[in-house]
Amino acid sequence: MLRISEYSAMAEAAIRALNLSSETFDNLYAPIIYGMQAGGKRLRPTILMMAADAFGGSPEKAVNPAIGIEMFHNFTLLHDDVMDKSDTRRGRPSVHAKWDDNTAILSGDTMLTLATKKISEVDDSILRPILDTFNDQALRVYEGQRLDMDFENMTEVALDDYIEMIKLKTGALLGAAAKIGALIGGASKEDAEKMYDFGLMLGVAFQIEDDYLDTFGNPDTFGKPIGGDINNNKKTFLMVKALATGGPNAEALKVAMKMPAGPTKVKTVTRIYETMGMPALSKADVAAYSSKALAAIKKTSLSDDRREAFRKLIDKLITRTK
Ligand code: IPE
Ligand code: IPE
Ligand code: MG
Ligand code: MG
Ligand code: MG
Repeated sequence: MLRISEYSAMAEAAIRALNLSSETFDNLYAPIIYGMQAGGKRLRPTILMMAADAFGGSPEKAVNPAIGIEMFHNFTLLHDDVMDKSDTRRGRPSVHAKWDDNTAILSGDTMLTLATKKISEVDDSILRPILDTFNDQALRVYEGQRLDMDFENMTEVALDDYIEMIKLKTGALLGAAAKIGALIGGASKEDAEKMYDFGLMLGVAFQIEDDYLDTFGNPDTFGKPIGGDINNNKKTFLMVKALATGGPNAEALKVAMKMPAGPTKVKTVTRIYETMGMPALSKADVAAYSSKALAAIKKTSLSDDRREAFRKLIDKLITRTK
């Protein structure tokens, strides 16, 4: 196995080498290049290549589907930033802020097709299960995003419904990355399913951490505007857990949700979260779902040193600042 940074570097290099520029359709492809080359952790291609490598396929063989998954992820971000009215991504103007909403929609659509083509660059013998996995999990992402939008207009959301929503919007794609990588590596069906479970649970931990960072992260490293979730009345882990706790603080949160978006609202809600001990509670759930991710890895036939590589990845993600 390689180091985690070596997989992400391979993905980064392959993304830089993509030849996407077009003179005729510059304002269709330039936003794609802008979005794809803005950095990012490259988590999903890293998972895909690690899984391929772990089951005995070379990471090189997995690099095209890996950057396909990253392209799909970046497509969802173009649309997500329109839906979340988020003007900053990876420390730069998001695509809809730099161009406009129509550009984010159409360049996003284009990325979905480019992603599907890249993911299809596998041996014919495994093309069908890989495309099925990708398409099925892509549908889960849209379902999750639909719930995320619907939840904005609800005052209270049950914790179980929140977890289901983030399994869909975030867990499904990490699961797909892990499973597709495993299939490329030649894993058995059983192992490929365990790898899906790993990605799914890692995705839940990852999204709870993302929710935490959206309020409590460092604006210099996070790359996204702090407090965006509060301003959108997002039913994040922090909000759902705090409301479920009940009492006067939960009542104060319901009042604060009606405040107009802006720094006062962000400050008010953040203070209530702090009073309620939400940072520690979210860390506890991140740890719990990380353990489930590791438990899935332990159910595979992978050797101890290969399992250790995934444990390191989990560790890295839950202590991240961006
Ligand atoms: C952002 O994903 C969307 C979520 C699912 C939280 P990442 O945090 O992986 O974003 P990049 O690609 O590293 O910028
Ligand atoms: C987005 O969740 C998950 C996607 C499927 C794009 P968020 O809306 O929390 O992602 P960020 O915080 O904007 O990256
Ligand atoms: Mg969103
Ligand atoms: Mg968003
Ligand atoms: Mg977020």
